[in-house]
Amino acid sequence: MSILPICTVPDPALRQRAKRVTSFNGSVQRLIDDMIETLHGVEGVGLAANQVGNPLRIIVIQLPEEAVISIINPEIVRRAGERVVVEGCLSLPGYQGEIKRSERVSVKGLDRQGKEMRLKAEGLLAQALEHEIDHLNGVLYIDRLESGDKLWKIKPDEQA
Ligand code: CO
Repeated sequence: MSILPICTVPDPALRQRAKRVTSFNGSVQRLIDDMIETLHGVEGVGLAANQVGNPLRIIVIQLPEEAVISIINPEIVRRAGERVVVEGCLSLPGYQGEIKRSERVSVKGLDRQGKEMRLKAEGLLAQALEHEIDHLNGVLYIDRLESGDKLWKIKPDEQA
């Protein structure tokens, strides 16, 4: 496994719509392993494949004290509620913003063996799923700011 460099704004890789995974070969497995190692290396919450320059629909999420989640071709099939959250992104180091996310989401996709999976989530996991699936569509959280004053600089030791 290896730690991959993470693209940062304004890298055009972040604005591309990622493509669906259709084969579950060794290179996809290696990419998922590398994404997990990269995420752990920076102590991040989530990572989308296009953040490491690979335009495939794959996300990994690591919440504290939880098992790592990897989803291929994830799709949000249901959203409910709305809440205001403070969010950051590994592709926009040094910043945080206040945006609205869903309270709960249902996501379907495939696990790394290509088997169908469904996930119901709320709170931070729902937020992370929306954030990472946005990445796959070329969307960043800064696109969801209601105004410029909802984005601010943070000190390096406060990075989410
Ligand atoms: Co992000």
